[in-house]
Amino acid sequence: MLQVQGLSKKYGAIVVADAVEFTLEKGHCLGVIGPNGAGKSSLFNLITGVAKADAGSVRLDGAELLGLPPHRRARLGVARAFQIPQAFGNLTVYENVLAAASFGAGLPGSRAAERAQQSLRRCGLAARSRDLAGRLPLLDRKRLELAKALATDPKLLLLDEVAGGLTEPEVAALAALVGELKAEYAVIWIEHIPQALHAVADRILVLHFGRKLLEAPPAEAMASREVREVYMGLADSP
Ligand SMILES: Nc1ncnc2c1ncn2[C@@H]1O[C@H](COP(=O)(O)OP(=O)(O)OP(=O)(O)O)[C@@H](O)[C@H]1O
Ligand SMILES: [Mg+2]
Repeated sequence: MLQVQGLSKKYGAIVVADAVEFTLEKGHCLGVIGPNGAGKSSLFNLITGVAKADAGSVRLDGAELLGLPPHRRARLGVARAFQIPQAFGNLTVYENVLAAASFGAGLPGSRAAERAQQSLRRCGLAARSRDLAGRLPLLDRKRLELAKALATDPKLLLLDEVAGGLTEPEVAALAALVGELKAEYAVIWIEHIPQALHAVADRILVLHFGRKLLEAPPAEAMASREVREVYMGLADSP
């Protein structure tokens, strides 16, 4: 479904993507780890079109995304849940998700409403529909971030540290939800919490200075020399 090839980007001397490549199929989750500043969020910026790639190719079901503006990529099926929840705090949970279904997916009236309700149920938020988004506890704000992404009717779900700041049981609850969603989408999940990825990711991609160091099943990736080196600072250059 997703094919990334030779994806490259520099900000001056800072290399955030250095010929990154990977593929991802529906029903699979690729976990992405790497130290702060490794280029993880930048990878999402390049896939969504928030940042312009210097070179490479990102294809979704064969369609080249690079060069298209972010809203066109959203319509083609790219959705992102942000590291810092980006809800409209003074709208209700339902209104937030309805906005995503109307403007993100471009669905007309009743179909947008239906899609919004469905996304809320899927993310365990139906009972919170009428609450103000700004008043939600953190786990529900994270769920809302997911529900908004689902409401845009995506193929590819990009999750940027959605488990950050949660307690251990909350991380487990969120991981279970992502695990369920995985069946219907292709998921890329950036996370600093290895336990969360362990349960859900089929493979883990390790980024360091924008370069793909390794891509392997979770247990193998976590036990690898490369991961120990970049996280424990045994080697701090690529
Ligand atoms: N628009 C930009 N202009 C200049 N530098 C940028 C820009 N966006 C990101 N960077 C730099 O690129 C590097 C990679 O940033 P990125 O946000 O991708 O890291 P990350 O792996 O997501 O880190 P974290 O774990 O802290 O979220 C950082 O050094 C960052 O300061
Ligand atoms: Mg980041």
